[in-house]
Amino acid sequence: MTKNKAQNRIDKLKEVINHHRYLYHVLDTAEISDFALDSLKHELSNLEQQFPEFITSDSPSQRVGGEPLAKFKKINHKVPMLSLNDVFDEAEVTDWYSRMEKLSPTDKFDFFCEYKMDGFAVSLIYKQGIFIKGATRGDGKVGEDVTQNLKTIESVPLKLQLSKKLNAINMIDLEQEIEVRGEIYMEKKDFENINKERNKKNEPIYANPRNTAAGSIRQLDPAVAGSRNLKFMAYAITSELGLQTHEQEHELLRSLGFKSDVGELAKNILEVISVWKKIDEYREKLPFEIDGVVINVNSRTLFKKLGIIGKAPRASVAFKFRGKEATTKVLDIVPQVGRTGALTPVAILNPVKVGGVTISRASLHNHDEIDRLDVRIGDTVIVQRAGDVIPDIVKSFPNLRTGYEKKFHMPAHCPVCSSKVVRKDWEVSHRCSNKNCGAILRERIYHFVSKKAFNIVGLGPQKIDALLDEGLIKDASDIFELTEGDVTPLERFAEKSVSNLIKSIESAKKISLAKFIYALGIVHVGEETAIDLAKSFENIKKLQSASQDDLISVKDIGPVAAQSVANWFGEKKNKNFIDRVINLGVVVEEESPRKENNKFKGKTFVFTGELEAITRDNAKAKVRDAGAEVSGSVSNKTDYVIAGKNAGSKYSLAKKLGIKILNENEFLKLIK
Ligand code: IVH
Repeated sequence: MTKNKAQNRIDKLKEVINHHRYLYHVLDTAEISDFALDSLKHELSNLEQQFPEFITSDSPSQRVGGEPLAKFKKINHKVPMLSLNDVFDEAEVTDWYSRMEKLSPTDKFDFFCEYKMDGFAVSLIYKQGIFIKGATRGDGKVGEDVTQNLKTIESVPLKLQLSKKLNAINMIDLEQEIEVRGEIYMEKKDFENINKERNKKNEPIYANPRNTAAGSIRQLDPAVAGSRNLKFMAYAITSELGLQTHEQEHELLRSLGFKSDVGELAKNILEVISVWKKIDEYREKLPFEIDGVVINVNSRTLFKKLGIIGKAPRASVAFKFRGKEATTKVLDIVPQVGRTGALTPVAILNPVKVGGVTISRASLHNHDEIDRLDVRIGDTVIVQRAGDVIPDIVKSFPNLRTGYEKKFHMPAHCPVCSSKVVRKDWEVSHRCSNKNCGAILRERIYHFVSKKAFNIVGLGPQKIDALLDEGLIKDASDIFELTEGDVTPLERFAEKSVSNLIKSIESAKKISLAKFIYALGIVHVGEETAIDLAKSFENIKKLQSASQDDLISVKDIGPVAAQSVANWFGEKKNKNFIDRVINLGVVVEEESPRKENNKFKGKTFVFTGELEAITRDNAKAKVRDAGAEVSGSVSNKTDYVIAGKNAGSKYSLAKKLGIKILNENEFLKLIK
């Protein structure tokens, strides 16, 4: 990206992120999901890393939380309430560790892993063991005094207790001022109940437990907070108490009477990753929402030594779970013809990881949907993988436009068959006016993947129908571009079969020339003709450039087939199709030249009846390979009649004329 473009993008990202952060942190509402907001922030901080000269102090990457509301008294935080840097996958968490290891190569690292509560950060101040005041994070330096609201929460101890055991170890002096930090949250069931009630009363429902908890704390009437069954989970004591590890900090918190996560120790980064994976698997079952795992360097000394970078301690990160949403760019919008001839606009995306898999396309359903979302080619959008539907675009960001975005228009003519595209008044979809168009396309793809062609195991008609219906493929070449992420959410694909399918697509990519020609589905080119063509032209390039005369001169290719083949290869869209398939990694093996022997040169064979061990076409090919000819009728020029099951009049005629008659077995032995 050029400097100019980067600066432009950074400016726009800042504006959009600031808008959504304001909604989230100050107004406790949300227009987009945390995942989408994270995704934008991630793009911004990546760009800022590449172009540090554009980092400004007002960048969202440089600030913490939101502004305190005027309606509350302000409280200054003695120790600033920092933020955490996010990492989103195994590679990023490993990079984080490597950076620390480089800074402190002689230290031994172990990690304390705890839930990242999706709640609302507060600070609680205790003097002589008594809760005296509590504040929101605010902008990190100044928070809002929400003491009265916090006092309604049962899990906020009003008086600290200290078990004898810990007192003996740490000799905590409860007389001194102690500051405890943690998250206010709402359990999922309480959140659902509140929304049920609101729904009954026709009141608008709340977006999520986090914002509901935050909203309950950040209003003046303590009765509201008191009625919401909020909870407090502690994660830190800022006061200097001579603790050696973060784990001990949690132990102490519990013995003082707080709820705090028991967490899990990890000896190295691989263990960190497996703890993160394990928690991700069971987190749905937890009574509250968590959005990741906070990974802390366990040793307090090392933690302090590693210091602070920007607004976050270097020695902890929030290892976020994979979201169901992310932001990316629309590279193109292409109309795809479905099974029923309906044209579905499909967005081709800059590949992006959503929920751990890469998404490269998303359905836009129909033109109305594009208008509703106001999506243009070049736009930044939020994509979502939700349950059993294919990836969807849920929102575009008009504020991130550069002016070069293009609107999508439905084509006037069908991209498959060139017939007119029409839209009936009562329908949302545009359709190809050729009633057979969708069906033709579908049949072509069935044929392309069938056993004698590409032989893609696990991709039967039903699945092809699903891919077409959802606009994931518009022709057979698109099959080679499918990713697991594109296919998994489809209803008709189970997760396991998806990875098998992607594997079998991969292994089908190597194909013989004859099968490849057959797969193209050219009219009058069956399996045998495809073999003949392959043997004569040896590679696809030569076949593509063959003239009609070249084709006619191939033995057994009649003028009709020759014309059909020449026409097919002459069409630009077919050439593009072949180029695309090859660009997507299909390797067409060259055919070795026809091995002719002249054992039966000048002889003529006639077939009658049904063969069993070999197809009629294969038998004919053998005859030709031996230098002989195949004829359709018996005459005195005939040398051999091959009689299969239920042989008819040709057989009787041959007998009359005294021509040599062979059964299938005798023929195979002869021709070997
Ligand atoms: S430690 C330097 N531990 O996540 C900040 N934070 O994005 C120290 N959070 O501001 C935070 N669970 O509001 C920590 N177990 C946990 C947490 C946690 C949730 C929140 C907290 C923090 C934000 C950072």
